[in-house]
Amino acid sequence: MTAVDEVKIGGMGASRRRVEDNRFIRGKGNYVDDIVLPGMLHMEILRSPLAHARIKSIDASKAWAMPGVRLVLTGETMAARNLAWMPTLSYDTQAVLATDKVRFQGQEVACVIADDPYIAKDACEAIFVDYEPLPPIVNPMQSLADGAPLIRDDKENQSDNVIYDWEVGDREGTDRAFAQADLVSKIELHYPRSHPSPIECCGSIADFNRSTSKLTVYMTTQAPHIIRAAVALVAELPEQMIRIVSPDIGGGFGNKVPVYPGYVASILASILLERPVKWIEDRTGNLISTGFARDIYLHGELALRKDGRILGVRMKATADHGAFFSDAQPSKFKIGLMHSAFACYDIPNAHLLARGVYTNKAPGGVAYRCSFRVTEAMFFQERMVQAAADDLGMDQAEFRRVNFVRDDDFPHRTPWGFLTDSGQYSKCLDVGLEAIGYQDFLKEKEEAAKRGRLLGIGISTMTEPLGAGNSREYDILGIKMFDSAELKIHMTGKALLRTGAKSQGQGHETTWAQIVAHELGLPAEDILVEEGDTDTAPFGMGTYASRSTPVAGAAVAMVSRKIRAKARKIAAHLLEISEEDVEWELGRFYVRSQPERGVTIQECAMAAYSNMPDGMEPGLENVAYYDPPNLTWPFACYIVTVEVDPETGVWDVLRLVAVDDCGVRINPMIVEGQIMGGLTEAYAMANMQFITFDEYGNCIGSNFTDYLLPTAWETPGFELHEVVTPCPHHPIGAKGIGECAAVGGPAAFVNAVMDALKGTGTRNIDMPLFPDRVYEALQTGADVSGAPPVRIGEA
Ligand code: CDP
Repeated sequence: MTAVDEVKIGGMGASRRRVEDNRFIRGKGNYVDDIVLPGMLHMEILRSPLAHARIKSIDASKAWAMPGVRLVLTGETMAARNLAWMPTLSYDTQAVLATDKVRFQGQEVACVIADDPYIAKDACEAIFVDYEPLPPIVNPMQSLADGAPLIRDDKENQSDNVIYDWEVGDREGTDRAFAQADLVSKIELHYPRSHPSPIECCGSIADFNRSTSKLTVYMTTQAPHIIRAAVALVAELPEQMIRIVSPDIGGGFGNKVPVYPGYVASILASILLERPVKWIEDRTGNLISTGFARDIYLHGELALRKDGRILGVRMKATADHGAFFSDAQPSKFKIGLMHSAFACYDIPNAHLLARGVYTNKAPGGVAYRCSFRVTEAMFFQERMVQAAADDLGMDQAEFRRVNFVRDDDFPHRTPWGFLTDSGQYSKCLDVGLEAIGYQDFLKEKEEAAKRGRLLGIGISTMTEPLGAGNSREYDILGIKMFDSAELKIHMTGKALLRTGAKSQGQGHETTWAQIVAHELGLPAEDILVEEGDTDTAPFGMGTYASRSTPVAGAAVAMVSRKIRAKARKIAAHLLEISEEDVEWELGRFYVRSQPERGVTIQECAMAAYSNMPDGMEPGLENVAYYDPPNLTWPFACYIVTVEVDPETGVWDVLRLVAVDDCGVRINPMIVEGQIMGGLTEAYAMANMQFITFDEYGNCIGSNFTDYLLPTAWETPGFELHEVVTPCPHHPIGAKGIGECAAVGGPAAFVNAVMDALKGTGTRNIDMPLFPDRVYEALQTGADVSGAPPVRIGEA
């Protein structure tokens, strides 16, 4: 029995329409570029045309002389204030404006602040930089070669281009497993560079008010509180005098986690000029300088028994980080959570060797819709799994099933140390196979082959770690990873909820209210959700790595429970009974022995301000900081069927089935939207997105005619299915979902094309699977590498 119908009040499980869309679809969103402040100036950035060059001199006199120019910032200006370099989120340093050298094409060299953006742009072009070109290094092989030029000669004790060598797992145990193997399956892969493509690029408006000493920065950040801490520490400003406001954000996907030079320069400019300074990045600036992801080479090996069991896994990964190591990732793990690979499989031995290198490319390693390298991990895993099944001559679905962690084996400790706690992996696979009509497709494929048609089926199954922390193991720059929610119930029973997360389009304003509705029985429409203003929101680590539901969402449930606990005392007072005799049903407290006698949560709210028990602190509000006991481990099974045209190498998706288990779904419609978006990105990565660098370090892919975004026309149709295994430690049983499809999806597409090519000799084609690459494979029967020749595994 409940006082209110949970679905009707928009609680858990309701496919409630997104409240934020009211303003978005009317064009009333409030993005950084919509904000206009009195007296505001505009900043433009002059970027390096060269990938590697020494700066001999910078002559900005012509720019200074242009009418309307208020300030020109160069590395020298920054250095005078100790701001030429800034710390990165991975304990490296990054140039704000170049002083000694430029280290990638597009690097920030100077900034002009002027009355309007056009004057600023023209003035940038009037700055003369005298460069002495140096040999550019565009891949790890060049970077690691003997005699390679030193990219980071600014760093003391840096004698080569290696950033780190990192190792995890049991090397000897894994060697023993390989010695016992009936078969060793090997594969070499490159996960190419890619770039998030939010509709809104990065930008900031810094507004320093000398009379109050307050610095307000409106900016596109997914983690406002981290930015506030960074500004306080780097600029040595008092933290209480810094206000970071992240208004509506037109998509983030990881692009808006790091600190970029444009933010820092606009802040300094505002402090120097005592006027608001706006910087809005253009698309090319975004695509060539901020937020690169992936770019990892893998040599992978699986030790296999004849019956299909995997005895051990070895991975050697070499990550190209570009000129600065600026990944946002937990401090402990040099290559993110790469070692979460194979978590859904029961494998006794595993060893990972990871190496990070500098190159003359923009900083890479952003967790693009991904929990810190998990996308690469799961792609490598599923490509290795399919290659191994083929090497064994075993059905790819059966190979997975044989090796899955079984439902009754949880909690399960992976050989790399993660603890997975729940899942129904075989069931998800079965749902997917049933939906796609697996056996029928295999027969169809065989028949088609007789007529020269190439059909293929690709599977990708994975569990991934979402929701960093817990704080014991996860921190960024020493700041522990937890999150927060603050809930204020007004006397009329309406509420204001604030969290430390920050939506970039995921619909937090809708779903957080649903959690409160579920916990308290207040209608979701009575709850206003606010995020993104550090002056009002409780401290949080921000939104990335699909951590909002696992961490901030949990905090929302916990703060609601604190409110309910206080409301129970008020209810006892109103009902004139002892608290022990009070029962709760959704939306109402009642007398255990007389269920018809009760008070609603709204009545308790009114009493909290007008008729509270003697000695009780008035009001009904609270805050909860939630430190999760573990990550959440959603599971996904993506199955794709394709037909490859043997004459052209063009491949078409026939069907795409997705089975996602993200635990309890708060809003099924939003969850499905997340999955569709992720699958679209996965398809783009597998099929069309290419951002690379020529031998001079020129970025190829600096606009949307070269770096392609799929439209509804190209994107395949989705067939979505669900399995629900509640997360055992999350207060409402939810697991993250935001990035699952982007993480698990790419391998399903590639596996499908490779399945169509099975028997031709080709074991791998690197993404994107352009028709010419597929055609080349069909002609040669050899692997097609998207990268220069690499033998990382032999290193
Ligand atoms: O951190 P981020 O918001 O990107 O990812 P998420 O926590 O996976 O949530 C994405 C969106 O899906 C949010 O609006 C969540 O509230 C919603 N969601 C849900 O309705 N049910 C789940 N089990 C997981 C997420």
